[in-house]
Amino acid sequence: MPMTTLEATARALVAPGKGILAADESRGTIGKRFAAVGVASTDETRRQYRQMLFTTPGIAEFISGVILFDETIRQRADEGAPLVEVLARQGIIPGIKVDAGAKALAGAPGETVTEGLDGLRERLAEYRELGARFAKWRAVIALPEGRLPSRLCIEANAHALARYAALCQEAGIVPIVEPEVLMDGDHTIERCYEASEATLHAVFHALFEHGVRPEGMLLKPNMVLSGAACPHQAGVREVAEATVRCMRRTVPAAVPGIAFLSGGQRDELATAHLNEMNRLPGPRPWELGFSYARALQGAPMAIWRGDPVRIGEAQRAFLHRSRCNAAARRGEYTPELERSVA
Ligand code: 13P
Repeated sequence: MPMTTLEATARALVAPGKGILAADESRGTIGKRFAAVGVASTDETRRQYRQMLFTTPGIAEFISGVILFDETIRQRADEGAPLVEVLARQGIIPGIKVDAGAKALAGAPGETVTEGLDGLRERLAEYRELGARFAKWRAVIALPEGRLPSRLCIEANAHALARYAALCQEAGIVPIVEPEVLMDGDHTIERCYEASEATLHAVFHALFEHGVRPEGMLLKPNMVLSGAACPHQAGVREVAEATVRCMRRTVPAAVPGIAFLSGGQRDELATAHLNEMNRLPGPRPWELGFSYARALQGAPMAIWRGDPVRIGEAQRAFLHRSRCNAAARRGEYTPELERSVA
């Protein structure tokens, strides 16, 4: 695959004013989210729910790409077309989650390493055939009991991310490299900064060692935040400054974009943080965007609750969150915009 194609796809995914919808929850994760709103998780309810998101009128104005789960990339819309085609028809780029989840890391209590490299070359070839043009692999970095992550955990995950990313580029698929430092715990924002900086240094070192070209990839990191249970919660400006400082010190300028995950932040706060980052004085060599699951889907899922009658209202809520985050990409998110549900 020529590098120009990978680079063009990566750039399209972080096109100004647009972002990525992560709709790649595994069966276990979506099951928990459905249970919280009283919906049974079946192949059919998952299909209906995701179809509702993908057919939201006007969504392509704000959403550049969607990350799918293996089940969804094989499903069809009511009208018969594959869901992948429903996205592609609107100019939305289909992507695929290819990791097999985080598993306990031997020798590192409380920490995990992400699995899924076995057979990945063959799976990527099939996914490309099915229409995927980008992929995602999530590494999970915890601060067990407030301690910084171990070197072993960081190195093992960086190595796996680099092997995954190299295989993606070989297959003509843009890798989204996602090292997530969890916000679970009572650690301070300074601890989160230290863990994030150390992780990103190791990740980009591994990517270099494995010959991954930065122009043809995207980074999907956590924002630098106070732990969810930390008694002192850093403010929006502090989070924005710490996050951008961390990125400047670790992410090569050749990477086209950084698409943040939301990580369990309240949806409006995730938007406010992104907005503030885009308002900080430059220079900023990369696009700063979003690739949210919960912060885009929380509101529509709570409205939908499995009832076809509420699809229109749920779609409007999804469009609204997408519009707010698109505005945050330009630093133009305001309380007035937040209140203006179309
Ligand atoms: P959240 O935005 O809910 O953190 O999910 C993003 C994601 O894709 C996690 O892998």
